[in-house]
Amino acid sequence: MPILEVKDLKKKFENTQVLKGIDFELEKGQTISIIGSSGSGKTTLLRCLNFLETADEGTISVNGKIIFDGRNPVTDPKELRKMRLHFGLVFQQFNLFPQYTALENVTLAPLLGAEAADKDAIIEHGKELLNQMGLSDRMSNYPHQLSGGQQQRVAIARALALKPDILCFDEPTSALDPELTGEVLKVIRGLADKKTTMIIVTHEMAFARDVADTAIFMDDGIILEQGPARDLIDNPKKERTKQFLSSLSK
Ligand SMILES: Nc1ncnc2c1ncn2[C@@H]1O[C@H](COP(=O)(O)OP(=O)(O)OP(=O)(O)O)[C@@H](O)[C@H]1O
Ligand SMILES: [Mg+2]
Repeated sequence: MPILEVKDLKKKFENTQVLKGIDFELEKGQTISIIGSSGSGKTTLLRCLNFLETADEGTISVNGKIIFDGRNPVTDPKELRKMRLHFGLVFQQFNLFPQYTALENVTLAPLLGAEAADKDAIIEHGKELLNQMGLSDRMSNYPHQLSGGQQQRVAIARALALKPDILCFDEPTSALDPELTGEVLKVIRGLADKKTTMIIVTHEMAFARDVADTAIFMDDGIILEQGPARDLIDNPKKERTKQFLSSLSK
């Protein structure tokens, strides 16, 4: 059974149909990369998966259980928070809390409402995650004392701290200089090696090809083409995909 199953997902903003029926599946431990031109609906898709937007139609299932159904969407805030925990999201603009240290940023959400007895374990886990991100000497730094690449790695640790089933990235390196991009891609690659289930929206084609198992090409609100990442990026079948990929290499 796939860990994630998205069926016929549709989303409209005012008069614009932004998602026109998205279907895909993701197996546990696998990574999907999503590529496509600006405005094709990539961010909207991630936002719908993370319950930051409510899709109009379609279903989202995690581990075989429907967690979103456009015919009967969950509106109860408590229930919604629970559903949201299936997914973690790392944004392009790290969005760390400026008034908290790296470690506090990572542990804040899991500490909320935790039993006193669990607090030490949560803090230990937060430290472990920052270690994994190569930030063991940066735990007490505030965001403004960190480089963009370091901030993004804190954001990744923060997303992992809630132990999501699926970790989503929305262009995690597009706000970074090339040299900082490399360090962030490296930690994401490490997560893929450890079989973290991920969906990565990216403009880094070499990365999309090498790290992901499957690639999806989105165009104007639909999935125009999907398949093994290497095949799709090296040998796209559709004319539109070829055009998009060759426009990037110019
Ligand atoms: N809250 C909103 N209200 C109205 N229109 C929106 C909203 N969010 C997105 N859109 C529109 O939906 C379309 C898809 O936007 P989206 O951000 O999902 O594209 P994208 O593929 O992520 O693009 P990019 O590569 O530039 O990030 C665009 O035409 C955008 O203007
Ligand atoms: Mg986007």
